[in-house]
Amino acid sequence: MAENRETWGTKLGLILAMAGNAIGLGNFWRFPYQAAKNGGGAFMLPYFAALLVLGIPLMYVEWMQGRYGGKYGHGTVGCMTYLQAKEKLGHSSAAIIGALAGMLVFSVTTLVNAYYTQIIGWTLGYSYLSLTGGYMDASKSTGEIFVNYIQNPVMSITFWVIALALLAFALSRGVQKGIEAWAKVMMLLLYVLGFILIIRALTLGSPINPDWSPIKGLDYLWTPKWNELNWQSALAAAGQIFFTLSLGMGIIQNYASYLKPDEDIVLSATTTVFLNEFAEVILGGTIAIPIAYTFLGPEGIAAGVGLSFIALPNVFRMMAGGQFFGALWFLVLFFAGFTSAIAMYNYLIAMLEEDLNIPRKVGAILVFGFYILVGLPSALEPILTKTSELVFLTELDNWVGSYFLVVVGLIEALVVGWLFGEKNALEEMNRGSYWKVSSGFFNLMIKFVTPLSIVILLIFSTKSYIQNGYFKWVPSFVEKMPELVPWVQGARVLLLAILVIGFAEAYYTIQRKYGSAQTQKGAKA
Ligand code: PHE
Repeated sequence: MAENRETWGTKLGLILAMAGNAIGLGNFWRFPYQAAKNGGGAFMLPYFAALLVLGIPLMYVEWMQGRYGGKYGHGTVGCMTYLQAKEKLGHSSAAIIGALAGMLVFSVTTLVNAYYTQIIGWTLGYSYLSLTGGYMDASKSTGEIFVNYIQNPVMSITFWVIALALLAFALSRGVQKGIEAWAKVMMLLLYVLGFILIIRALTLGSPINPDWSPIKGLDYLWTPKWNELNWQSALAAAGQIFFTLSLGMGIIQNYASYLKPDEDIVLSATTTVFLNEFAEVILGGTIAIPIAYTFLGPEGIAAGVGLSFIALPNVFRMMAGGQFFGALWFLVLFFAGFTSAIAMYNYLIAMLEEDLNIPRKVGAILVFGFYILVGLPSALEPILTKTSELVFLTELDNWVGSYFLVVVGLIEALVVGWLFGEKNALEEMNRGSYWKVSSGFFNLMIKFVTPLSIVILLIFSTKSYIQNGYFKWVPSFVEKMPELVPWVQGARVLLLAILVIGFAEAYYTIQRKYGSAQTQKGAKA
């Protein structure tokens, strides 16, 4: 059993920390452009379906796995998965499944956070630019300004390192004084600033074109378009559910591992989902899309990845009080990103603490150095190549930030549904829970509907990855830019190295902690 593991201080703190984990750049930066790009109302239908079929069941599964692992002193996914798989399987097979899950999650928490913290750096840099009027000069397009920003080492690297240093500082203080304390302040500010921005967005009127208004922007998102349903938007919607709820990343389990053994799971997990969805479809959906629609029209919201950093600054230029509202917008992004990145960072600290006995304070510094190392290529690519393609980041995001999450989700659903089993899983989920998960829900959703939906999702994603040329030695997105090919290959080498390290780390930890138990059992038999 766990020796003196830290736990959350208060219920409110726990819920806000979990909400902070889930509410991230995914809600404010990724969701609006995904929804806009994939047909607005045509995206929202599969989005809500995926929330019910994948999001909620997996959220319960991950909370349950985490609290269960915490009981045995584990805040990382390798050992948790091992212990649950071992209920039905022998030691060796369970160890391999555990190591595979541990490996994938290690790659997510290292590589996704490596570039995610840079985007957090951009949000900090852009808050500064908003206040100082850095993008207000109308002689340059906001696109050029963004490219200058990422190609300017002073700006892009400084703000990234500041963000990482703040994370290191917060995390060196531990779960209650670090994660929980920072989440309480930042989440509160996020909701307050978010509401101010919503009011601003909804009162913009039609300053540019009588056909462009905030309500038209909302209509685009909220008018269900049954006849425009298609696989492409369904895939994007399901991927968004994984990303925004932090599923398949190991970080929900990590936070849940700091729950007390009888602390509520079902209601708390549901509350987290609710808070995240509110921040996503209400705050995320009512700020960026209506503002962009009002000033830039239907074309403006189709700006893709550039919606937050290129299209909106363009709007802040035209809008009364734009500098102020611009700063609020980028601060909202910053708080959202920070309270998510802190979760991935903590995962790595927990790993060092639990597997290598490295104290948290030292771990915080080691992980800082590690993130600088693995994040540097994404920071340097625009600076050294003088392009703004960000292919290193794109390659990592395609695999680690999208595809792997779904694979981890499948492993979790199968391990819990079929190996850990109904009796154990329901006992663990429902113990101390105010609401209970029923046997019917478990047998229908967690055993069948959820894993089957993930399999379908994986088949279609794989197909679309093949069609988009992501499996090719030179992926299609760099075919026309031979000078960038080494960056993609570099990303793959890094990814491979991380996978090998992740597997070895998880596998040896499982062997070290549980290998001998098996021998003893063998001896007894
Ligand atoms: N749910 C988070 C988000 O929406 C996902 C995430 C967490 C991504 C931590 C990176 C780091 O942004």
